[in-house]
Amino acid sequence: MNPLFPLTAATLVLLLGACADTSPGGKAVSARHERFEEMGAAMKAIGGELEKDNATSATVRQSADRLAALAPQVKGWFPAGSGPQDGKRTDAKAEIWTRQAEFGAAATRFEAAAVALKAAADAGDAAKIRAAVQTVGAACKACHQTFKED
Ligand code: HEC
Repeated sequence: MNPLFPLTAATLVLLLGACADTSPGGKAVSARHERFEEMGAAMKAIGGELEKDNATSATVRQSADRLAALAPQVKGWFPAGSGPQDGKRTDAKAEIWTRQAEFGAAATRFEAAAVALKAAADAGDAAKIRAAVQTVGAACKACHQTFKED
């Protein structure tokens, strides 16, 4: 392989970063990426605590709080103009905008799961927390399977 390739790829990433899309749609893409990363980090933190048998820890409570706070916002992270059909660099599928009711239902299922997780975490009920985390994870996955590119 060309030994210069890694350097070239790194340069390309820098260049793409430098000409970030500052249109409203482009900003929506960047903003939702940050929020989704945050949700991923919260799920990872909870998973780590469950592995250590710390289901009722402050980390779990705080992460569950964050997920429950972000969940109702998800639908609003996909305004018109922020999809692949608008030329945006995104893993969001155009189906989000053509099958809005279905997308909304997936977001609502996730929201309900996140609220249940927060309730279990607030109650300090380890068994319920474990079950609720499974449901939340399934809701993330279900939406990704239909509405996100791999
Ligand atoms: C209702 C649909 C939906 C739900 C629910 C959902 N996601 Fe996503 N997620 C998406 C879509 C669509 C994208 C692609 C966004 C883009 O590239 O613009 C995405 C992207 C991501 C990304 C990648 C972000 C990046 O920087 O590229 C992560 C990480 C992620 N989601 C984690 C989660 C986690 C964890 C959950 C559950 C706690 C979750 N998502 C729930 C639809 C959803």
